[in-house]
Amino acid sequence: MQTEIIRIHEDGDWRLKLKNSVSKKLPFVIPTETVYGLAALYNDTQMVESIFQIKNRPQDNPLIVHIVALDQLQDLISVKLNELPENVMEVIDSFWPGPLTILFEKSSNVPDIVTANSPYVGVRMPKHEVGQTVLREIGIPLVAPSANISGRPSPTNAKDAFEDLNSKVELIFDGGECEVGLESTVIKLSDNMEECLVLRPGKITEEDLMPFFSNVMIDKSVLESSLTEESIAESPGVKYKHYSPKAKVILVDNINELETAGFSNFAILSYSKKLNLDNNIYFKSEDHLASKLFSTFRELDRQGLEAVFVEMPRLNLALKNRLIKAAI
Ligand code: TXA
Ligand code: MG
Repeated sequence: MQTEIIRIHEDGDWRLKLKNSVSKKLPFVIPTETVYGLAALYNDTQMVESIFQIKNRPQDNPLIVHIVALDQLQDLISVKLNELPENVMEVIDSFWPGPLTILFEKSSNVPDIVTANSPYVGVRMPKHEVGQTVLREIGIPLVAPSANISGRPSPTNAKDAFEDLNSKVELIFDGGECEVGLESTVIKLSDNMEECLVLRPGKITEEDLMPFFSNVMIDKSVLESSLTEESIAESPGVKYKHYSPKAKVILVDNINELETAGFSNFAILSYSKKLNLDNNIYFKSEDHLASKLFSTFRELDRQGLEAVFVEMPRLNLALKNRLIKAAI
């Protein structure tokens, strides 16, 4: 299969190509503000099934459903939109479109394969013009996990998506570099919807959510390395190695006491200070490192490095989470 990277502003035939891909039930790649996603119509089980095959994704890992307008939410969730409590509507108003995924009790329209048999469905409204244009064109919500082969860093540009999915899809919509660079924050609401639990940290932080809830908690798996026996027992989804480059990722607590003995072919990612070393890649802040982490991992893999030393972040919980999961 030929894989084509297209820009909707330069390709007059994009609608036709999209229609062809959908009619063949072939998932396609769309950009979002976080990372690129491998998309399928949420209610087309055959198309959704191919996502799992293409990504080599474990069947027990649920998919996020993407919408482009609030009226698409009603079909997906069991509660009536106008019965959602005010604080939840305020969260939606404040952060959508944007990098926040909210779990709701699902309606019967959502196939079990989408939620991996969970009664909850994760929904988000992405903030990327190209992603939104494609969503509007299709007119049906799209499931879209990150457009990588499972276990690899998520792609944050069309070329990185192509690297993993060449010959596995027909269409990659090019929307440039993703602004956020790490996947969306995933939250679960308590039964009364007054509290929330952060299952996956992202650009929308605990502090951002605090004004809307009586309590915001962080799931304990967030700062656990993936392979502890306890986490495997409690939540099968966290047992998989995530976000990893081929190079060994080594976290450095104190960049002034860097110990690289035993490695010859490595890079050092730092943000608190620029090192006087050729193999140092310096970022101007933790957030800057966060936005470039995955594309940097991929670039270093292309160079065939054996290890990458990364300065441990102090503030950015999403970055810390991705690094801890990568460093095993
Ligand atoms: O930023 C993002 O969220 C990107 C872009 C493409 O939108 N998507 C993404 O999807 O990161 P994925 O499939 O790579 O990660 C989805 C995460 C997984 O950790 C999954 O376990 C969790 O969200 N998730 C989704 N639905 C869930 C559910 N019903 N219950 C619990 N966790 C869920
Ligand atoms: Mg992913």
